[in-house]
Amino acid sequence: MEIEFVAAGAALGEKAVLALVVFEGDLLSGAAGQLDAQTGGALARAIAAARFNGGKGQVLDVLGAGGEAARVLLVGAGKAEGFDDVGAEHAAASAYGAVKSSGLTTLRVVLPSAEHGLAARAALGVRLASYRFDRYRTKEPAEKKPSIVKTQVATGDDGAARTAFAPLAALADAIAFSRDLVSEPPNVLYPEEFARRVKALEKLGLEVEILGEAEMAKLGMGSLLGVGQGSVRESQLAIMKWNGAADPKAQPIAFVGKGVCFDTGGISIKPADGMEDMKWDMGGAGAVAGLMHVLAGRKAKVNAIGILGLVENMPDGNAQRPGDVVTSMSGQTIEIINTDAEGRLVLADAIWYCQDRFKPKFMVDLATLTGAIIISLGNDYAGLFSNNDELSGNLLAASGVEGEPLWRMPLPAQYDKNIDSMIADMKNTGGRPGGSITAALFIQRFVNKVPWAHLDIASTAWKKPSSVPTIPDGATGFGVRLLNRMVQDKYEG
Ligand code: BES
Ligand code: MN
Ligand code: ZN
Repeated sequence: MEIEFVAAGAALGEKAVLALVVFEGDLLSGAAGQLDAQTGGALARAIAAARFNGGKGQVLDVLGAGGEAARVLLVGAGKAEGFDDVGAEHAAASAYGAVKSSGLTTLRVVLPSAEHGLAARAALGVRLASYRFDRYRTKEPAEKKPSIVKTQVATGDDGAARTAFAPLAALADAIAFSRDLVSEPPNVLYPEEFARRVKALEKLGLEVEILGEAEMAKLGMGSLLGVGQGSVRESQLAIMKWNGAADPKAQPIAFVGKGVCFDTGGISIKPADGMEDMKWDMGGAGAVAGLMHVLAGRKAKVNAIGILGLVENMPDGNAQRPGDVVTSMSGQTIEIINTDAEGRLVLADAIWYCQDRFKPKFMVDLATLTGAIIISLGNDYAGLFSNNDELSGNLLAASGVEGEPLWRMPLPAQYDKNIDSMIADMKNTGGRPGGSITAALFIQRFVNKVPWAHLDIASTAWKKPSSVPTIPDGATGFGVRLLNRMVQDKYEG
């Protein structure tokens, strides 16, 4: 998608759609009012004939209005008072959604305000909404493919809008990268291929190290390696470094992702129905990779580490069994009760390695960890678990601004005994009650007094159907925006 910032009155080319964003209760002021006057009341007539009142997400398609544009859209943005950055994104994204396959090629978005920051966010909205994973379609008819290839956003200051858009373009690129990883089929994106794709990000200035099974065995990562042991694909640990702080030795911040490239459940095998969803069980690693992509892409002034634990969980003659005991890098032993509770086993070693080697300021892990978080919070909120109020506060603040909702969950000490084992230091499941909580308590046993937060994104990494105009059905990229925002607002400079 080509993005341009133009003056409100700039000539429209051929095959252009004019999308006028309007507020509820104030439909025909500004650009919409002018066009209505020029067209002898065409917009007023269309409004009267429909149930359009400018509410958020409403789009009125006005055909044959006359005037310069081949087609005019009125796009509702709700009440003027609540209109913010995310509102501008959503309005522009809704406009794109309404005409993406119309056959017209240019979308001109006119917001109620010409302010350059809002214009940049509108452009971001269209970039995110126009994401599409179509690599494996060979027979799609041309008329079903999106036709809009250029978006112009009207603004009073196109130079300032371009400057404001640069880091947002980096964000959109990173989210697309993350969504691609999550969308790829599991026969294509197995641990080594994932590792190759993040290694290729060295072109952005990241440093990437990849550890294979022999190196992880030397480090004593029996917990992570046990999960991958039934797979013919080799497990990998990817270590991504972004050194952007003025002081290259400044203490880094760290992010750790669950990257189960496919989760069959292993010997504790999952039911067939819906198992294909488990290709996106690497969504945590996908989000961390996306975050590192945007930090490098916008040259963030921070030192950051991203660690991805990449495995495939398969049933096999060599697979881990329920009843096995494994020794983690921390030295703690784990009795495997259910081989399907594998994400925490991967994180246990990845997190230990992270704090041991990098001594970070804090660690945030992201994982599609439990089905129970979907039962607890539904499909819009991810679960936040943390041993630190300041870190939680920073995550919640960023979450609100970026429209990626989090809800803080408890880590009650009295539930911790549910993961005590009869024969080892702990077991890998704590029963059905509070399943997301005991999973988080398990991870906490591998955190050494470092401020830490765990985001259980099983609820938000994939959406079908999506209810947000900037998120097409499928991989969401959840986490990239909110972490990027938190880093930008609290940990740079
Ligand atoms: N990857 C799943 C969790 C999941 C479920 C992610 C649905 C996305 C959508 C995880 O590895 C898992 O299987 N968890 C088990 C844990 C249980 C065996 C204690 C679960 O949630 O049922
Ligand atoms: Mn599982
Ligand atoms: Zn899993």
